Amino acid sequence: MGTFPILLTKPKLLLIGGGQIALQKAQALSRNQINFNIIASAFCHEIQALDIPMTHRPVCAEDFAGVNIVIDATGNPDVAKLVLQEKKKSYFLFNCVSQPELGDVYFPAILNVNDLKISVSTDGASPTISRIVRDKIAAFIPKQIPNLLAEKRVERQLGTLDIKTTQEQCLKLFSTVYLIGCGPGDVDLMTIKAYKTLQQMDVVFYDHLLTPEILALIPETTQKISVGKKKGCHLYRQEQINELLFEHAKRGLKIARLKCGDPYIFGRGAEEAEYLIKKGIKVEMISGISSALAGPACAGIPPTARNYATNMSIVSAHLAGCKINTDWLPLLKIPHHTIIVLMGLSFATQISELSLASGVNPQLPVAIISNASRADQDVRITDMQNLPTAAVGAQRPAILVIGDVVRLHEILSFASRADEGLSSSISEAGRLQELAVS
Ligand SMILES: C[S@@+](CC[C@H](N)C(=O)[O-])C[C@H]1O[C@@H](n2cnc3c(N)ncnc32)[C@H](O)[C@@H]1O
Repeated sequence: MGTFPILLTKPKLLLIGGGQIALQKAQALSRNQINFNIIASAFCHEIQALDIPMTHRPVCAEDFAGVNIVIDATGNPDVAKLVLQEKKKSYFLFNCVSQPELGDVYFPAILNVNDLKISVSTDGASPTISRIVRDKIAAFIPKQIPNLLAEKRVERQLGTLDIKTTQEQCLKLFSTVYLIGCGPGDVDLMTIKAYKTLQQMDVVFYDHLLTPEILALIPETTQKISVGKKKGCHLYRQEQINELLFEHAKRGLKIARLKCGDPYIFGRGAEEAEYLIKKGIKVEMISGISSALAGPACAGIPPTARNYATNMSIVSAHLAGCKINTDWLPLLKIPHHTIIVLMGLSFATQISELSLASGVNPQLPVAIISNASRADQDVRITDMQNLPTAAVGAQRPAILVIGDVVRLHEILSFASRADEGLSSSISEAGRLQELAVS
């Protein structure tokens, strides 16, 4: 359409009109710190309330002397005619609000974020669409942009501005790292939010505990990077994962860090989030269903149940350097208490020996739940004294559930098997009632 957007510095501007359209123009000009004269025979009370100089009379030929831009917001054809006559005598730019085709400038929809100015125009086709697009763009502008611009202005004045650094500083403001909890493995146990977010990523980082079914949900065009950490086989150290996430975030990308279960339950999600936030990267955490909760449920073991357990603890048996964490062992002596142990399978023998030596009941029920929620889920029911034998050959990943609630597996495991019929559920529910009463 042969239009060209430019920024005018300190234009000498005349605004004609005193109604609502003139009000909108006056407000926009004031927001952009433009000095202007406004002339009209009458002003609406909103314009009168503005702190701007006003001339109360009809516009006349003398008003155009030395003006660079004229805005006619009257909608009056006689005013437009006068402006066009004057335009022949002295050159100025003309914007006629009611008949844009008479003029030679359009005003775009403007977004001002301090020094950042974004103007959107549809070449006069639809100011409404311009405004909608402008407002959508506004939602994408990081709130730190004004500060960064102020910093850059100073650096530019001092001659210390570095383009590469500026690029990185700006791009990283547009990046978000999503820590996404994907649940214990069954795709259906992922949250809708996790699924939806995953569809919009540029890069996805995942580790070995993510099932192929979940990885299959990542769009083909998304870059996938495995940072798998298997027991005894670390593809990347945690520090390297942090750095990799940061390196990609610096490029202004949308990044997903997929975690099994919930990122904040023994998932090192907090460390990654802290590292990135301290480096100025926006982080969003999307909670997932932890294996600590889904695991027992999938095995028909409720962590709490009246008459069995009134408290529960979720612990990790693993400390840095593949050492056993024994801090939680005294919990084994608390009555009506369920303990869910993550990363405990490798320490089954020590857990058994140390707890028996401290006087824990040898018959305290224990369940080993491997591959919870997955097709190859396996549940072994044992007790504290037989735990080392039961653990032999058990698959990873696995959790241990310790406490009287494990006894409910015999009855409730039906509830976690989708292929059982309703009638058997009802009869098993009756047995549960009997057991709870006895
Ligand atoms: C590093 S931790 C991560 C825990 C995870 N953030 C969560 O909330 O489930 C890994 C441990 O989680 C447990 N785990 C994860 N997925 C599991 C599954 N599907 N079945 C059994 N245990 C699982 C195992 O104890 C495994 O050693």
